[in-house]
Amino acid sequence: MSSQNDNPLIRFVAFWWALGVFSLFAVILLALKLLGGGKAESNPLEEAAAAKRYEAAAKVKSAQAANLAYKEVEAGKVVQVPPHDVFPIIGKELVASKGVAVKDPAQIIPGGPAVNTSADADFGAIDKMSPPAGTAPDEAAMAAGKAMFTVCAACHGMDGKGTPMVGPPLAGSEWVDGPVSNLIRIQFRGLTGPIHVGGQELTFAAPMMPVIAAMDDATIANVLTYVRNSFGHSAGPVLPDQVKALRSETGKPPLTEADLIKPTKP
Ligand code: HEC
Repeated sequence: MSSQNDNPLIRFVAFWWALGVFSLFAVILLALKLLGGGKAESNPLEEAAAAKRYEAAAKVKSAQAANLAYKEVEAGKVVQVPPHDVFPIIGKELVASKGVAVKDPAQIIPGGPAVNTSADADFGAIDKMSPPAGTAPDEAAMAAGKAMFTVCAACHGMDGKGTPMVGPPLAGSEWVDGPVSNLIRIQFRGLTGPIHVGGQELTFAAPMMPVIAAMDDATIANVLTYVRNSFGHSAGPVLPDQVKALRSETGKPPLTEADLIKPTKP
């Protein structure tokens, strides 16, 4: 019995049989994989979807690259935005700006767990506090506002012309010249959903307009003063008291266009 098991010829045949069966399985598996893989790659729906994603990504990338090129952030100071030397400017502004205390930090998250349900302030009365359009803004306020605007420029562009899919233009925007209460409320609550700017409907994928509720009244007033008196606008200054009067907006859900007072072009 054992001598038959040890027959070298049987061992030789068994070896090649085993190898043959194994290779056959390997070839079948490989063929299945090739067929299956080939099928998935040539799915026209998936290919179209992927092409769209690549196209969108390329658009955002090139728009941002254009936006983040070399810009003048202070008179005579040309830097790449955002470079390491823009951050000290923003840092200086943040340090100079007194943080605003909120009862619960979650309050500054629009629609967050500490949703603010307080009654609306009198927007009309706050808008009436605005000095007449064309009133020259304070030079120091403009300078501080311009430095602070570096934060906004990441999306709205240093020239205020906006970035496709990232931020709408401020240049030529009727919202910028319109009621001040809109602009201040946008800073406190963010803005989401389609918005009409300069006769065009613009839609953004996410509520990207950030909330800057933790900054003090003067800092918010300065950056809005800068926006209202740059990029072809001369709508006059925004007063820290107007910002203060709208603190009750902090923590309310993000605004949509319908929540704002429709600007009437003069
Ligand atoms: C992360 C990108 C981003 C940053 C940073 C940003 N914004 Fe916005 N902003 C947006 C988007 C997106 C919208 C449009 C929101 C919507 O309706 O979906 C918007 C809307 C606005 C609007 C109203 C629409 C218009 O074009 O007039 C104003 C005014 C505005 N932002 C001012 C500012 C100011 C001032 C700052 C800096 C303190 C700032 N934004 C920072 C993305 C940004």
